[in-house]
Amino acid sequence: MTSEASSFRFHHPSRLRRSVLTVPAINDRALDKVTGLDCDAVIFDLEDSVAEDRKADARHKLLEFLQNADLDHRERIIRINASDTPHFREDMRLVLQCLPDAVLLPKVEEPVTVQDVADLLGEQDAAEGLRIWAMIETPRGVLNAAAIASSGRTSDSRLDAFVVGLNDLRKATGIPAAPGRTYLVPYLMQVILAARAYGLDVIDSVSNDFRDMEAFSDECAQGRAMGFDGKMLIHPAQIEPANRHFGPSDAAIAEARLVADAFSDPAHAGLNVINIDGRMIERLHAEEAARLLAKVALITARKDKP
Ligand code: COA
Ligand code: MG
Repeated sequence: MTSEASSFRFHHPSRLRRSVLTVPAINDRALDKVTGLDCDAVIFDLEDSVAEDRKADARHKLLEFLQNADLDHRERIIRINASDTPHFREDMRLVLQCLPDAVLLPKVEEPVTVQDVADLLGEQDAAEGLRIWAMIETPRGVLNAAAIASSGRTSDSRLDAFVVGLNDLRKATGIPAAPGRTYLVPYLMQVILAARAYGLDVIDSVSNDFRDMEAFSDECAQGRAMGFDGKMLIHPAQIEPANRHFGPSDAAIAEARLVADAFSDPAHAGLNVINIDGRMIERLHAEEAARLLAKVALITARKDKP
């Protein structure tokens, strides 16, 4: 491995980010619900879902909520307003008070946006565990996705995940919402490739229609097939289908067990390729299988909780 490659801080292999629910920080009723919902992560939103004149109120509610609620296994992410808005300083102050798992930056278009926030967190001695997530939701964000992702290589970067935002991207590009997302797919694939090149997780965009569960299910299946780790969700009804589509299927689990067992068989010691029922299996498949089984163990551990 080259020294550059070995300095990549690849994301935790067994982190679950199938369902990433966003909750407007201003909405008490929704906030009160999240501790009972089976999502992997919660984004507490201070940006677009909170009206301009209610930002301070939202920060106040969120502080009180996060100081009292037990989110258990759910990752806690705070989406703040961009650094060129009058809300940024106060939002960052709240982040430093709440110390969530990550801060989500909206409309990231340049590596420097991520670096500036990382510097701010570093200056305030925020623990390394406080990560940065970046929304890629503008044409420039998509075009610069590789440069933004590659800035995550530096040891002080904190960058951990991309989240795609299609409402903003559709608005900026003029591409209408349509089943299959045909003309958006090339952009989405570019963002996924950039994330993968530099070891970031990548989360698919929200779907606005939370009543048409069939269309939502199709979009989850498409997102999974494209390589996304999970989906950003706006409504509790979207959690179960997201967990199902982005989680390992029974068939995938059975295959992973088969591969893991085959490589741990002493008869195959020292082999890098083996034959399982007429298919070539390589050692890289064993690594993939181990990662998948680690996720299964996480899901099972949660289910077994009293
Ligand atoms: N998180 C937690 N609970 C939620 C929720 C969410 N994102 N969205 C809805 N709920 C709750 C509602 O509070 C409601 O419970 P209640 O009757 O006790 O209040 C229940 O789920 C059913 O909700 P429903 O009546 O179907 O929808 P709604 O009109 O209350 O809310 C939205 C619809 C779209 C306004 C709401 O889902 C929402 O604000 N989503 C997030 C939007 C967001 O964050 N956007 C920015 C990023 S794109
Ligand atoms: Mg947006």
